[in-house]
Amino acid sequence: MTGTSMDGVDTVLVDIHDNNKTQLISSYEQPLTDDLRDKIIGASNASADSLHDIALLDQELAETYATCIQSLLKQSGIKADNVQAIGSHGQTIRHCPDCQPPYTIQIGNADRLVELTGITVVSNFRQRDMAAGGQGAPLAPLFHHHLFAQPGTTRVCINLGGIANISVLNANGLISGFDTGPANTLMDHWAMRQRGERYDKDAYWASSGRVNESLLNSLLSEPWLSRQPPKSTGPELFNLQWLDSHLAGLDVSPVDVQRTLCEYTAMTLSDAISRYAPDSEELIVCGGGAYNPLLLERIEHHLPDKQLQSSEAFDMAPEWVEASMFAWLAWRTLNGLPGNVPTVTGASHEVVLGAIHPA
Ligand SMILES: Nc1ncnc2c1ncn2[C@@H]1O[C@H](COP(=O)(O)OP(=O)(O)O)[C@@H](O)[C@H]1O
Ligand SMILES: [Mg+2]
Repeated sequence: MTGTSMDGVDTVLVDIHDNNKTQLISSYEQPLTDDLRDKIIGASNASADSLHDIALLDQELAETYATCIQSLLKQSGIKADNVQAIGSHGQTIRHCPDCQPPYTIQIGNADRLVELTGITVVSNFRQRDMAAGGQGAPLAPLFHHHLFAQPGTTRVCINLGGIANISVLNANGLISGFDTGPANTLMDHWAMRQRGERYDKDAYWASSGRVNESLLNSLLSEPWLSRQPPKSTGPELFNLQWLDSHLAGLDVSPVDVQRTLCEYTAMTLSDAISRYAPDSEELIVCGGGAYNPLLLERIEHHLPDKQLQSSEAFDMAPEWVEASMFAWLAWRTLNGLPGNVPTVTGASHEVVLGAIHPA
């Protein structure tokens, strides 16, 4: 898994059995080099489109993924023959659910990954849901239900990656969920532009700033926020140009911008939970943002009646949930089981997700 944060490649080895909860056996993370990261940013930018460059990057990502998988297997003492499949999400370089017709593009050549690892690869998880009329995202709710659902209790799983998404695991078994807006992407890009840092570790910088109400209100006026689910979003909308357009005419110090962006993530997320899961009692946080103490404090501030816990309390560290989900979705694909939730993505029916590339 490489997400919109472009921080690193997350690889996990998981054990999956029909009725048991997915068990994490081993994990390995490799940060993306600045070079690879720059290439992904380039490929994600419509003004710089070059099919040749993207095709080369597609191959290079597969090689990077293969190296990570080999390190994971070596570290775990497991042979490739003993792995049933790799679920490879790939790197999203474009996600346009509102285009006519909609499309989403993930790269990281699956055929090359099979050749390099000798393991069957399941890839392209989002395409089929989109073809069936869905947003292709979020795909996490079914896995969150598998890991975290508790009959009789309404829980919300919050994934704080580049974008924030929630899965509402209702007491009666129904599942809903959608993207709520940015989680880390704006904070990360602002920290990079102002301080040359990939992210504001432990919200050290943001914590010394103050929320600027004018900027916050301007950001909150974004029309996408008031749209009804199903909905998904990405850096195509929430990016620095978008932020610059809201900063125009305002005089806000860089540190106060960072603090305001943190508040923005906390407020948009909390507002979505208050509106769509008012009866929820427990919140389970995963994704890299689960390590941002200021962000968690602000979510708790806005939702004082709910109990917030890390996914760690359920035997899965926050940074490994998403990668484990694609292993589990690959398992469902190989077993002919659907992986989308139509009420979440808006697809017209359940579909088996992904393309199988046999070893
Ligand atoms: N200690 C930390 N303090 C603040 N933010 C953190 C910390 N650890 C991780 N993060 C945030 O988490 C992000 C990575 O989250 P991740 O779940 O990998 O997102 P994605 O799925 O988009 O790759 C980082 O870019 C950073 O913003
Ligand atoms: Mg990541």
